[in-house]
Amino acid sequence: MNENQLTSLLEQMTTEEKVGQLIQLATPFLKGASDGGQITGPMVGMGITEEVVKNTGSVLGASGAKEIKNIQESHLKDNRLGIPLLFMSDIVHGYKTIFPVPLAIGCSWDLDLAERSAEIAAVEAAVSGIHVTFAPMVDLVRDPRWGRVMESTGEDPYLNSEFARAFVRGFQGDFANDNQRVASCVKHFAAYGAAEGGRDYNTVDMSEWQLRENYLPAYKAALDEGCEMVMTAFNILNGVPSTGNKTLMRDLLRNEWGFDGVLISDWGAVKELIPHGVAEGEKEAARKALEAGVDIEMMTECYVNHVQQLIEEGSLTENLVDEAVLRILKLKQKLGLFDNPYRGADERLERELILSKQHRDSARELAAKSAVLLKNEQVLPLERSQKIALIGPFADNHDILGPWSWLGAQEDTITLDKGIQSYASEVKIAEGSSVESSSSVQLDLALKAAEQSDVIVLALGESSDMSGEAGCRADIRLPQVQLELIQEMKQLNKPIVTVLFNGRPLELHGVIDETDALLEAWYPGTEGGQAVADLLYGTSNPSGRLAMSIPHSVGQVPVYYNHYNTGRPKNAPDAQERFVSQYLDSPNGPLFPFGYGLSYTTFTYSEVTISSQELREGETLTITTRITNSGEKAGEEVVQLYVRDTAGEVVRPMKELKNFERVSLYPGEEKVVIFTLKEEDLRYYHSNLEYKSDPGHFEVLVGPNSKQTSSSAFQLVK
Ligand code: NOJ
Repeated sequence: MNENQLTSLLEQMTTEEKVGQLIQLATPFLKGASDGGQITGPMVGMGITEEVVKNTGSVLGASGAKEIKNIQESHLKDNRLGIPLLFMSDIVHGYKTIFPVPLAIGCSWDLDLAERSAEIAAVEAAVSGIHVTFAPMVDLVRDPRWGRVMESTGEDPYLNSEFARAFVRGFQGDFANDNQRVASCVKHFAAYGAAEGGRDYNTVDMSEWQLRENYLPAYKAALDEGCEMVMTAFNILNGVPSTGNKTLMRDLLRNEWGFDGVLISDWGAVKELIPHGVAEGEKEAARKALEAGVDIEMMTECYVNHVQQLIEEGSLTENLVDEAVLRILKLKQKLGLFDNPYRGADERLERELILSKQHRDSARELAAKSAVLLKNEQVLPLERSQKIALIGPFADNHDILGPWSWLGAQEDTITLDKGIQSYASEVKIAEGSSVESSSSVQLDLALKAAEQSDVIVLALGESSDMSGEAGCRADIRLPQVQLELIQEMKQLNKPIVTVLFNGRPLELHGVIDETDALLEAWYPGTEGGQAVADLLYGTSNPSGRLAMSIPHSVGQVPVYYNHYNTGRPKNAPDAQERFVSQYLDSPNGPLFPFGYGLSYTTFTYSEVTISSQELREGETLTITTRITNSGEKAGEEVVQLYVRDTAGEVVRPMKELKNFERVSLYPGEEKVVIFTLKEEDLRYYHSNLEYKSDPGHFEVLVGPNSKQTSSSAFQLVK
């Protein structure tokens, strides 16, 4: 169908049929229809009738080629104009081959592998009949209390933007011509990651300057990469819930950025305008959301029950509805659904491709690159001949896929004990405690196993429901029983290697000093146990670098590397002892900074050299460092380039990541890493929100993490 045909299709639609396109229902509504079933229970309460279901535009959460084909087939019989359904789902970090959670992928600093992970997720989802994924989630995060930090790639706008692009490329590819890719929906617009107190769904209040400077770039990057859809956020932004926020959606997203794709509400977020207190009832909620530019209402009934009446009363123009419907029809058209409503759904390919060896190998590779080695007092890598006691609630635990892996199956997951058994000559396994409770029997068995070992490997962490949506914690330590387990093990005076499986930066008091090596594995996915064992035994060399700072304590939160200086900085040469910006009982900085991570080898950096002391518009500055692998193992280093603008029209971050490169080096090998900087890289939002650079003095800082850098300087001349 071409655009004219779409318009003529729109002209044939009744208002009821149009409104049908604007709602998204979960699978049970549609399954009822395809199974010849009936609408029952809460579905009745929503006012969703058989008629509404026949007109529905899209479905949430269906999966599997057979199921999706059945639903589509029965829908096409019921729908007067034969408009196919769109099938959307949360394919966040894998379909059935589950990759590490996005925060872990962020720690890989490996854009190619991130893209590949999204491509694999898309292939598996597409052959299972899915058309759109609700990913990537690109909310900038600074507060580890928020359970959803695991869905983001971290605290830095540049790194997030690069990952946003990589994910969109991976999911979408050339989806209009390739049935094995899906359309991508970036979320949650906007600034959901800044929820007050790290509590989910909570208030966000920030200046437009802050929003543009740090929070918006990753959404914009996803859209620049061609991302087809946007999802609203649950939070209010500066007093107005995002889902009814005209300034955000109409003025900024649609008018300023020119986004003409489909905008979908988050689950129930249109109706939530009522408890937020900006709509008296469903009717007002429907009007506000549609006026703000929300095309699809996910899982509530405000549009269905009220849009027609709003048009009849003259409170909404039919034109607004037509625009929304046309956007949805265009997406269906782009996905090829009018030609083939079953698109990529194919049972044979499902069997062939899902969880294939190739897919699993990529998951294993990315899991190994995502883990961050935080400490190693010469205990890692382990020797195969060492007797291992593998202790802890994650020793033999399949719950390592992490939140948002709904189709990932526990039975397909390689647990840590399986991974370690593939290397160790002797391993004894004991839980020691459960994730949040313990018994003396568990402890006794663990002590017995540990006593007979050369090395204790402690597998600790959070169960997956302790993070993710609605998984916020005010206390971000490991559960008390696990801290006690560490103490018990410590008494044995044996080397302890701790592996953490979790979804957020944790407070590590009671862990870091008690252990000789610490590997943050995050939720590493389907091949997680194998990938972690590969690292523990040195088949892979750790190369993950933190994408989010690890605080000393929750009292410091938010703590992030790209903060501003105060007028009374703590380390200034003339700083007083007391009247400076500091905590009396804690350092200001985090325990482990952004960009940090160890390797089994060492890397030395030469001085930073810079091609010129001056940079002019249109010119390029070259920044050069030589990296040498000064250790004894081959390894990968993530060389990071930061810039500091020493005096701006508004305050500038202490450091801003501008580029990075992953380099692979054999022992003794050296490589020259060359970065470039242009005037465009030095632009920022001024107090009047103008985006430009100013002449003046800049520092360039290169190093292995955001704290340990060497610097050079130049002037921007204009
Ligand atoms: C709510 C979540 O906030 C969002 O990320 C997700 O895509 C939708 N539910 C649909 O499952």
